[in-house]
Amino acid sequence: MADALPHSLFNGIIVPTDEVRISPFDRGFLFGDGIYEVVPVYGGKPLRLDAHFDRLQDGLVALEIANPYLRARWTELVHELIAANDGGDMGVYLEVSRGTGKGRDFLPEPEMRPTVFGFCFRLAAPKPEALQQGIAAATLEDIRWQRCDIKSVALVGPVMLKIEAKRRGADEAILVRGERLAEGSSSAVFVVKGGRVATPPASHERLPSITRLVVGDVLDALKLPLDVREVHCDELLAADEIWIASSTREALPVTRLDGNAVGEGKPGPVWRRAFDEFQALKQREAG
Ligand code: PDD
Repeated sequence: MADALPHSLFNGIIVPTDEVRISPFDRGFLFGDGIYEVVPVYGGKPLRLDAHFDRLQDGLVALEIANPYLRARWTELVHELIAANDGGDMGVYLEVSRGTGKGRDFLPEPEMRPTVFGFCFRLAAPKPEALQQGIAAATLEDIRWQRCDIKSVALVGPVMLKIEAKRRGADEAILVRGERLAEGSSSAVFVVKGGRVATPPASHERLPSITRLVVGDVLDALKLPLDVREVHCDELLAADEIWIASSTREALPVTRLDGNAVGEGKPGPVWRRAFDEFQALKQREAG
């Protein structure tokens, strides 16, 4: 599905993916002590690369890891990586871990040199059945930690949630904290009621999704208002439409929630307009 393409980025150089070697004493491996990004690339051009670098920087600051490269160098490296893998539509995964230690101490050794790893994978166009029929989601209580705004590589919470969602026949878990919508296990969530679109605000409970910003621009272009506010769980059950959005899945309609139809049980008209405009935006910005 997200198999790695032949060339990867490893500590500042492009190397054959098969030749990357990372120590088991790397803190990314031992502690999940690192930050990652996933950047969508269309026709060889990354979409909103600067926004991804801003979020990477925020995550590194939160973890007190020094950013190993200036923005200009990062930009060069990402373009080199894309070109090494022949461009086209792909996702670029970037990871910066705190570095490799001498053993296993919770407290980082002073002046560690971060490990940088990046690889590409083919970005599959959304499956026709997902666009025609929508996808299924399951609501699950959010069992993750209290700093979900940090794009940390410690992802065992979402992995457990994805496994449970799959067991329930769903393609995504929509996470709730008590009565409030948090986000998807790997996506931002939008609800539509009476033609108005709503999505919860930035907070420690959710990742500041870049695709959410793109969807915001899409709605602006369509002159459709976006209400950024907390969303109550009851609104999920009553919604006309629910969408999930992420760098790897763009914006997809959720038409079944916990086995019940969302709205009319098929992709809704607001999503359809947003989807078409999303494609046009991709074409303009990165196509
Ligand atoms: N995940 N919320 C969570 C918890 C996520 O993991 C993601 C994306 C999003 C959407 O963010 P963005 O629009 O910037 O992709 C929201 C990526 C794709 C992943 O981990 O593979």
